[in-house]
Amino acid sequence: MAKLILKNPSGGTRIVVQAGALDHIGEWIAEGESPPIVVVCTDQTVAELYGDRVVDCIRQHGIAVSLYAIPPGDASKSPSELNRLYDRLGELHVARDGMLLALGGGVVSDLTGFAAATWMRGIRYMTCPTTLESDVDACVGGKTGINIAAGKNLVGAFHHPQLVAVDPECLSTLPARDVSAGLAESIKHALICDAEFLAWHEEHQDAILAVESTTLGELVERNLRIKVDVVTSDEREHGRRAILNYGHTIGHAIERLFYYALRHGEAVALGMVAAAELSRMCGTLDDADVNRIRTVLAAFGLPTVAPQPLDVEQVLALTHGDKKVQGGKRRWVLLDGIGRTIMRDDLDDQQIRDAIASVNASSA
Ligand SMILES: NC(=O)c1ccc[n+]([C@@H]2O[C@H](COP(=O)([O-])OP(=O)(O)OC[C@H]3O[C@@H](n4cnc5c(N)ncnc54)[C@H](O)[C@@H]3O)[C@@H](O)[C@H]2O)c1
Ligand SMILES: [Zn+2]
Repeated sequence: MAKLILKNPSGGTRIVVQAGALDHIGEWIAEGESPPIVVVCTDQTVAELYGDRVVDCIRQHGIAVSLYAIPPGDASKSPSELNRLYDRLGELHVARDGMLLALGGGVVSDLTGFAAATWMRGIRYMTCPTTLESDVDACVGGKTGINIAAGKNLVGAFHHPQLVAVDPECLSTLPARDVSAGLAESIKHALICDAEFLAWHEEHQDAILAVESTTLGELVERNLRIKVDVVTSDEREHGRRAILNYGHTIGHAIERLFYYALRHGEAVALGMVAAAELSRMCGTLDDADVNRIRTVLAAFGLPTVAPQPLDVEQVLALTHGDKKVQGGKRRWVLLDGIGRTIMRDDLDDQQIRDAIASVNASSA
């Protein structure tokens, strides 16, 4: 079991990584200032698998609890689903002392966290991640939000969960495709911060892909330590936190282009390859490292070439809409060797086109 504390301006986030954590949630909530009601927000798939178990565990501690499920998938990170959730919170008379619990993947925690940030100008929430993507990334850091027609995650707020309870055993029911998608963020953390961690992925490939629980527990813990360290140093993304966006500018553009038919992690894998190519063009990454990145992503079941031909101009146009644009210039997170990053804001559109083309099906 691992316990990490993430310090942030609104207090600490207590993080527990523990097999069987789902059966302790009621106890952990009751240890603090007990809320009169907990609304467990989840999606329909996760509700079937774990909803009753979590609800029963909370109820056993004398806390009123209600289960609320959204349709699975990124399309649910929408203004209409947010409105439906607000309506439900209204029906349940959730007040300032109420609590939301996000049980599920990043879609559930982003939507629930944003509802918690805005309901009554901010109420407490906690996350119980059930996907690897969320275990290693989305469950901590305080970024919450929804997608709108103009772009992904464009409406949001910083709002930290009070408690994060990671139960790696939930990964046993996760489809292999979603395990791979989560590994993209784990590989991202290794690429930007920890070269030895990349080698660890390569060495433990079989155990990771077999979802071997001890190995996955170690993987989750190492990822959370990296994310907590980066977020603690720069909560509001004025500087260092931006490195977590490695692969995400082109990744988000590709994700939108495929209208979310790709998993977030799959789109990020393509974005990371493109960003590695950009790094090579800038002379900060050598051929062997770019090839190593492609190899490791492919070994973990992630795409390194788009599943269908990309319209390069369309991807380029979508990267212009990315919210990491500062003063009209996009800031690119590039790799300066494996395990280190460098920020560049002097890249021209032709370099970006070439990088996008490097993951295009027609150029493979
Ligand atoms: N806020 C952040 O810091 C942050 C970081 C990374 C990603 N994200 C966001 O997270 C989202 C992606 O998250 P995700 O990949 O977890 O997607 P997701 O929440 O859509 O979950 C993927 C699928 O897995 C199913 N599922 C979840 N847990 C399961 C389990 N234990 N067993 C079986 N099925 C299960 C879900 O129903 C869903 O169909 C994106 O919207 C991304 O923008 C946010
Ligand atoms: Zn991501």
